[in-house]
Amino acid sequence: MKLTIIGSGYVGLTTGACFAEVGHEVLCVDNNQQKIDRLLRGEIPIYEPGLDELVKRNTEAGRLRFTTSTAEGVDFGEVVFIAVPTPPQPDGSVDLRFIEKVAREIAQVVTSYKVIVDKSTVPVNTGEKVADTIRRYAPEVTFDVVSNPEFLREGCAVDDLMKPDRIVIGANSEKAIALMRGVYAPFDAPVLVTDINSAELIKHAANSFLALKISYINAVSQICEISGADVEMVAAGIGMDRRIGRNFLNAGIGYGGSCFPKDIAAFIAISEQLGVPFHLLKEVQAVNRQMLQRFLKHIRDALWVLEDKRIAVWGLAFKNNTDDIRSSVAIELVETLVKEGAHVTVYDPKAMENARHLEVAERLIFANSPLEAVDEAEAVVIATEWPEFAAVDFAAVKARMRSPLVFDGRNLLDPARMAELGFMYRGIGRGVS
Ligand code: UDX
Repeated sequence: MKLTIIGSGYVGLTTGACFAEVGHEVLCVDNNQQKIDRLLRGEIPIYEPGLDELVKRNTEAGRLRFTTSTAEGVDFGEVVFIAVPTPPQPDGSVDLRFIEKVAREIAQVVTSYKVIVDKSTVPVNTGEKVADTIRRYAPEVTFDVVSNPEFLREGCAVDDLMKPDRIVIGANSEKAIALMRGVYAPFDAPVLVTDINSAELIKHAANSFLALKISYINAVSQICEISGADVEMVAAGIGMDRRIGRNFLNAGIGYGGSCFPKDIAAFIAISEQLGVPFHLLKEVQAVNRQMLQRFLKHIRDALWVLEDKRIAVWGLAFKNNTDDIRSSVAIELVETLVKEGAHVTVYDPKAMENARHLEVAERLIFANSPLEAVDEAEAVVIATEWPEFAAVDFAAVKARMRSPLVFDGRNLLDPARMAELGFMYRGIGRGVS
């Protein structure tokens, strides 16, 4: 099929590349000339495992193309996906300006029947507004609006797209549903067809539930810490219940990233606008904020005064397998340590480049390896769940440090082994070893 993606950011580019990979002809549109120029030169603006090969292969095969022209895009695709940003506003509600603008732009150039698909994460009832807008500016054209939310995770986006748990198609017309089934026919995944409003809600409800799971185990971790239980054991025990499952029960210093914080705030704002405030989600946010504060308190308690202390921080990305530092708890942690006068040396396998652009960067030392980061350090702090941190030679770490203190904000290490090696080890929800 001929498919157009408007917005070539994280979701748009990865989705476009995967559609091309399964045999569709894809035209990706973006109004950022620089971004399109880079893509035309074969440069991928983000780090995402497997994406560069996918883009390269499909560009060379002629199935994946790029343009800055919305008119060309709308003319090309039978199905036109909107994948533009939906950033948060100061009150947590979603800024839909880009969606509205694209809807107008489509209306100005559309001449034949199209399926207009919203892939961006939007509040419930946005599809209706997109349809109203197009109808107002192009009253003579027939079209259908579909909601087709994206559930990809950064770091495994290609896999999530190629082997999705489910495809959600929110549509009110048989013709649009048939075309959307065609788009997803090459993928081996269950398809759930719903009305547009339900599809839009599924995305916010799914992300909020995942964040709820994280805050749930984090709240349990606080009880474990005080009572002498081990949250890892508790998570294993409750996760074995198939109704609960072990995924997303990893206690830590909290969730971050470009999705959860924004989507939970948006869902709260939506619920308030609709007159049914979702108080439970406010508690999810509150627990998430507490986690970093508690963790920092443990570091302060151990080091007494942070001023002039040398601290190594491993991890800057909001999670492993990505270079993304947007709303990263690791960054917040580093900023706080620096503010309190600590000398902070940082290392991250992928996110160092992005971190160099931050204001705090000039007060950081960037190390070339986890070992180099701990030189003369009085404490090492693990802030991102990169599995390679667990594989570091901790005997060598200890030899390089001034005092052997480890604060593991992602429970990556084995407390017993750390104690054996002579470290003072503190994880999340598992006491001190
Ligand atoms: C999330 C959703 O998983 C995805 O379906 C949606 O499309 C976009 O938002 P993403 O933001 O890429 O994806 O990351 P995810 O893997 O969900 O992790 C989010 C945050 O939660 C990270 O900061 C991670 O460290 C944290 N997390 C995750 C935990 O603290 N504990 C866990 O058990 C899982």
